[in-house]
Amino acid sequence: MSSEPILLGGLFSESGAIADIEASMRRGTELAVAEVNAQGGVNGRPFELRLCNPESKVPLYASYAESLIVEQKVQFLLGCYMSRMRKMVMPVVERYNALLFYPVFYEGFEYSDNIIYTGSTSHLNNVPLASYMFERFGKRVLMVGTDYIYPYESNRVMSDLIYEAGGEKLGEYYVPLDATREDYRKLMQQVVADRPSFIFCTVVGDGLRHLYDLYWELGLKPEELPIASLTTSETEIRSIGAEKVAGHITAASYFQSVDNPINRQAVANYKRMFGDDQVADMCWEAAYFQVHLLAMAMCKAGSQQVDDIRRILPTLEYPAPQGTIRVDGNNHHTYLHARIGRANAQGQFDILFETSQNVAPDPYLISPRPGGWVIRDRRGS
Ligand code: ACM
Repeated sequence: MSSEPILLGGLFSESGAIADIEASMRRGTELAVAEVNAQGGVNGRPFELRLCNPESKVPLYASYAESLIVEQKVQFLLGCYMSRMRKMVMPVVERYNALLFYPVFYEGFEYSDNIIYTGSTSHLNNVPLASYMFERFGKRVLMVGTDYIYPYESNRVMSDLIYEAGGEKLGEYYVPLDATREDYRKLMQQVVADRPSFIFCTVVGDGLRHLYDLYWELGLKPEELPIASLTTSETEIRSIGAEKVAGHITAASYFQSVDNPINRQAVANYKRMFGDDQVADMCWEAAYFQVHLLAMAMCKAGSQQVDDIRRILPTLEYPAPQGTIRVDGNNHHTYLHARIGRANAQGQFDILFETSQNVAPDPYLISPRPGGWVIRDRRGS
């Protein structure tokens, strides 16, 4: 039996605007690789992770993906945070029949034979978040996002939800990935002028710090005018400062505070490997479980060929930190959990709502309503 390593390729930026969250995804991947290897690898073969640093620059994702596949003979790629980057990598993995595992919430409306999508799409974050916010805070919504496909598409879905609910869209504002504090200051002046019921946020990367900082400077109050975000996780909060995000809302499939033994063990292993000051987040968790899922698929298939893995994946369930997950063979997206959390003073989330079981993926948003699946109100709030 061969003991040769099985190569995995990691596309995780260590510099630039999205380095914070991609480094977290890289650490989740490294933790899972270490765990798989400690358990004997895949039938005796360890995983070996080949890492690239695309520096948060769009073209580098595609060129590193190609060099991993062609020069280093890697068939399985992991990573990419922004949809803009995934869109660049997609034709590369398709050209060489490699498989990208993409561990990030995104806009949906996409399928590739060569991508496995392990993050959530709108029916698991926009839809329950809109329902929660409309009921508690109102329906006058101001939207702010980074200037690229994910915020455009996410705002398109949110706009439909607002109109269907008889609400009002006050504005849809986009800022460049490298926008300055002054750009955000202008935006926040608009917020003060418009006084929305809440701000819907799909800003990614370093810009989030400016957004929450300026909100804080203006002395606005989250209990009156919260930021409802799809992009603000524990990792961003650690950089921004817990006191500036406390009280604001995020929708995600996973929070570090999820209370079950599998999550507690994964977070304990993470802190042991990377230090007590690390925090987990939704992209870390998907980056973590997808490596375990891949190892399981290779063991079950008795093969490391992309075609065999693609075939076997939908037959497997994996007990992830968020709860049990599995991949849908028809659309390559994942059955996941939905949660809404309120950031607390410790930089963690108090979970307000969560599904009692995983929910079938709906990447084309055929059912744009939170009905049809059970949501449990944990706090009565
Ligand atoms: C994203 O671009 N999917 C966060």
